[in-house]
Amino acid sequence: MGNELNHLAIIMDGNGRWAERQNKNRSFGHEEGAKKVREITQYCATLGIKYLTLYAFSTENWKRPKSEVDFLMQLLAKFLKKEEKTLVKNDIRFEVIGDISKFSSTLQNAIDNLKKKTAHCKGLTQILAINYGSRNEILRAVNQAIKNAKELDEDAFSSFLDTHGFADVDLLIRTGGDKRLSNFLLWQSAYAELFFTKTLWPDFSTGELETIISEYKSTSRRFGAL
Ligand code: IPE
Ligand code: IPE
Ligand code: MG
Repeated sequence: MGNELNHLAIIMDGNGRWAERQNKNRSFGHEEGAKKVREITQYCATLGIKYLTLYAFSTENWKRPKSEVDFLMQLLAKFLKKEEKTLVKNDIRFEVIGDISKFSSTLQNAIDNLKKKTAHCKGLTQILAINYGSRNEILRAVNQAIKNAKELDEDAFSSFLDTHGFADVDLLIRTGGDKRLSNFLLWQSAYAELFFTKTLWPDFSTGELETIISEYKSTSRRFGAL
């Protein structure tokens, strides 16, 4: 048995390096990364995990060359168009976090459409973090909250975050070898268990995820108590 796993969050890093190592274009790595999203999501659905948040594009990723940003936007559009069938078939609800007002109206419509088409699904909730930055999210929440001009407790503050209604992060995994959070779910991961693996995202596997989860399950989570 061990710890329950309600919310798994993944920083899917290493697509570019994965492609460069094979003398391929970085965009090839992103394409493979998108396929991996599908595989890992379906696997998580079979495990009975309730929320899976995937960091796909950060508020800082706009600093990349325009050609790479454009490619990632196209890939996102393709992904949104293609996923509906598989998600519905596997009873997976689609959600997003991040400031999507910065995306084209076509992309925003595609996002809303997929959310609507999967709103009835009761299994896993797949949450794509796009144009997501934790500081940006917290600031937007604060600016909303001060309009209400009331003192807040933790639950009330959480209700202003993009993640309202989702459980706190239990387990956070970063692939790609770096040990940093890169502005991901800072509030929500206050008591998450952190796992860093050198595996590049396109090489990540259900087997490695299973190993990490079994280590997570046997960890003593104390939340400050004894
Ligand atoms: C993660 O892979 C995906 C995005 C940030 C969009 P990277 O593109 O950061 O790949 P590396 O870290 O350069 O290898
Ligand atoms: C984090 O990866 C963001 C995503 C995976 C979407 P980055 O490659 O952008 O992070 P840094 O720049 O190495 O911190
Ligand atoms: Mg990276």
